[in-house]
Amino acid sequence: MGKDTYYLTTPIYYVNDVPHIGHAYTTVAADVLARWRRLNGDRVHFLTGTDEHGQKVARAAEERGMTPQQHCDDILPRWKEMLGLLHISNDDFIRTTEDRHEARVQEFMQRLYDQGDLYKSTYVGPYCVRCEGYYAEAELLEGELCPIHRQPVERLEQENWFFRLSKYAPALLDLYDAHPGFVQPDVRRNEVRAFVEAGLEDISATRTEFSWGVPCPWDDGHIFYVWFDALLNYITAAGYGADEEAFSRRWPADVHLIGKDILRFHAVYWPAMLIAAGVEVPHQVYAHGFLLVGGEKMGKSNATGIRPSELVEHFGIDCYRYYFLREISFGQDGTFSWESMEERYTTDLANDLGNLVNRVLNMVGSYRDGVVPAPTGAAGDAEAQLSRDRETALAGLAAFDRLAFKKGLEDLWQLVGGVNRYVEARQPWALNKQGADDDLDRVLYECVDALRVIAVLTSPVMPDMAQSLWAKLGLDEALEDQRLPEAGEPGGLVPGVRTERGQVLFPKLEE
Ligand code: ME8
Ligand code: MG
Repeated sequence: MGKDTYYLTTPIYYVNDVPHIGHAYTTVAADVLARWRRLNGDRVHFLTGTDEHGQKVARAAEERGMTPQQHCDDILPRWKEMLGLLHISNDDFIRTTEDRHEARVQEFMQRLYDQGDLYKSTYVGPYCVRCEGYYAEAELLEGELCPIHRQPVERLEQENWFFRLSKYAPALLDLYDAHPGFVQPDVRRNEVRAFVEAGLEDISATRTEFSWGVPCPWDDGHIFYVWFDALLNYITAAGYGADEEAFSRRWPADVHLIGKDILRFHAVYWPAMLIAAGVEVPHQVYAHGFLLVGGEKMGKSNATGIRPSELVEHFGIDCYRYYFLREISFGQDGTFSWESMEERYTTDLANDLGNLVNRVLNMVGSYRDGVVPAPTGAAGDAEAQLSRDRETALAGLAAFDRLAFKKGLEDLWQLVGGVNRYVEARQPWALNKQGADDDLDRVLYECVDALRVIAVLTSPVMPDMAQSLWAKLGLDEALEDQRLPEAGEPGGLVPGVRTERGQVLFPKLEE
């Protein structure tokens, strides 16, 4: 069996604490991409999970007076809750403490050891426990601070097993050159390339001064460095070494979605590990920017963390999913603010979309008893413009494949705005007054048919709202059975369906 599945992943998150909107950001983006690919007819496998080993988690457990395993089991439901809250459609969830993972990590690392890619040496240098990462002295900020967390690093001196990362530098450079899409966006690719070109040092692959990790099978007292363990989740969860059939259908992954904080691990260490083991590298690593709150990277360790539930309670699930992708260019840093989210809710969602739906269904209700008429009147300039707006939306959404969510949504709103402009241009209330029945039928049909397409196209981003809209339109087929491009084509609506106005889609926000 060859690859026949679109396979995408989020990072597996550290369970040292509960999730905040930074974790939700990556997870929602991945979910939108998964739903978008399914809408286009792909077989999709969407993986997320938790990173449970390492010093950071062990310390969090210690502070709570629990064993690391107790701590992980205790906090895991909070991470799974986030998936339910945000309506994430992942197909699998991996915990690095599962047997299916640990056994395969040991096999993989044993293989690197057997072929001579690991050797014993002493590591002396800085380590940031928050990153679970080694740094070179030159990378530290003034005062020996971690460049990401701006907190003091620790000094390690220990005998470890080292991975011959440097040996793979030429293969990595070849990879970046032969596949410019391997690291995206381009600015990240250039950064990674420059880092490798400057010369790679071998990296420590085991730890000895604590024991919360996957044991090294050939040397008692060593556990694997948490990043070797964690990165391997992408293949262990896909069936590597266990279900070769499933693995061959999924691997290589189409895209690993990550934040730019963990770029080096994914774009340098990970492909080197895979190349060493003779496993294909993923098609793409996409590193998005940071969510900032008050100018700072929001994090678990700096008390700026906002829980997704605080925002979902106020704005609802649909606005939550829409806001971050519409507001921030995915590759760049972006600032969350309560005000900008309120603005998006009111303008894009309640006014542009919610009012439009309400208005159209009101007119079908009062002029045609809720039954959608056949488009009898002639189509003219206004219809031609509307069909251009439809094309813009359909073509524009392909930006989702480049993870350009903001661009895709802007183009989709060109259609929402287009239907609003169409109603203004054709003035159905005037047609009704004049008794221009054929023309009125045409206008009502076009509007409802466009709302059908809007429901289909918004469904990856706002699956709940899209389903409510779909239900209002009274269509026979199920929304989840719709596939592009067919479902986006004009005239797909069968006249005679009975619409229902019902509740407004985006009610006024509470103060
Ligand atoms: O790094 N802005 O886990 P982690 C945007 N376990 N994204 C953010 C963010 C912010 N302010 N804060 C967090 C780890 N994220 C490792 C990963 S993968 C094999 C192992 C998101 O809990 C973003 O995706 O620190 C970032 O890369 C990730 O959470 C880090 O999560
Ligand atoms: Mg982190």
